[in-house]
Amino acid sequence: MATIHWNDGDIPSQKNKVVIITGANSGIGLESSRVMAAKGAKVIMAVRNLDKGEAAATLIKTNNPHADLDVMELDLADFASIKKFSANFHKKYNQLDILINNAGVMAPKKREITKQGFEVQFGANHLGHFLLTGLLVDILNKTPNSRIAVQSSLVHKQKTYGGADIFFDDLNWENSYNKDYAYGQSKLANLLFAYELDRRLKSVNSKVIVTAAHPGYTNTNLQKNYGFFVSVLMNNLFAMNVQQGSLQILRAATDPHLKGGEFIGPTKMGELKGYPEVVKSSEKSYDKKLSEKLWDISEKLTGFVYQFNNG
Ligand SMILES: NC(=O)c1ccc[n+]([C@@H]2O[C@H](COP(=O)([O-])OP(=O)(O)OC[C@H]3O[C@@H](n4cnc5c(N)ncnc54)[C@H](OP(=O)(O)O)[C@@H]3O)[C@@H](O)[C@H]2O)c1
Repeated sequence: MATIHWNDGDIPSQKNKVVIITGANSGIGLESSRVMAAKGAKVIMAVRNLDKGEAAATLIKTNNPHADLDVMELDLADFASIKKFSANFHKKYNQLDILINNAGVMAPKKREITKQGFEVQFGANHLGHFLLTGLLVDILNKTPNSRIAVQSSLVHKQKTYGGADIFFDDLNWENSYNKDYAYGQSKLANLLFAYELDRRLKSVNSKVIVTAAHPGYTNTNLQKNYGFFVSVLMNNLFAMNVQQGSLQILRAATDPHLKGGEFIGPTKMGELKGYPEVVKSSEKSYDKKLSEKLWDISEKLTGFVYQFNNG
């Protein structure tokens, strides 16, 4: 049974498990890599910059020389890089126990685009992970008790972040760019995707489960686009430290009691802080019609059609 305050002591041994963590060189991804390696997992640190990735791996190894880490290149803002990552992963590994879709970019001041021309938050946070996951479903299906844990955000339901909607008329923010709305949309898309994928996997009796999490407000590099006041002062005064903030996704990724479809987040101070528990996401995030619509568009935009078999 979990302790009252679920923490990393509740994570069972991860020996013999292979775990991919996206955005593993910084913030929550780096801390999650450290913890999963300490629990005995082989951690694939998926990073867009190999130098930063190697530096992060060295940092983990400084305190844990036995950490079993493999730094691999993955730029979620480039479909070619995602396909290359998947091909390399399939060459090297024949199991995948946990996929942690964690990487994210927040609110660039000016609209930025991915290699294929999508607005970067929709493109990398959502479409990139949509494609990555689809390419790895086969190996997840082959691995007993495997799961996917998806990192979302509390802002998926906040008015200041777009009223928590998917803006189908202008998914790519070509007509008018609002950095906060674009981030909010991408984080709602993460949730719609997670729940829909869990339903689709269950419908073919796959044993792969999908969970989601949000880290409240956690002190990382994520808020850098908001300038010194937010990213340094506010972060240091009000945010959880990265050890606490990472517990949410770590629980989503490892708690053996979860069945799929759960959302894990902190419960104190309006879900900004606290230990990880099962929480509710917005009503819209559970809307099956909305998630199907997003799914169809995501398949069209990535050019990737999911193949489900329960292997
Ligand atoms: N911190 C919070 O309060 C908070 C709240 C809600 C949700 N989240 C979510 O938590 C997740 C982790 O963020 P964090 O707080 O740990 O922030 P962070 O320290 O900025 O880490 C974000 C990670 O994502 C990577 N990344 C960004 N774009 C990428 C791309 N195109 N391809 C591959 N990797 C990419 C970054 O790589 P580089 O270092 O190379 O940029 C970095 O490793 C994000 O999904 C974020 O939306 C965080």
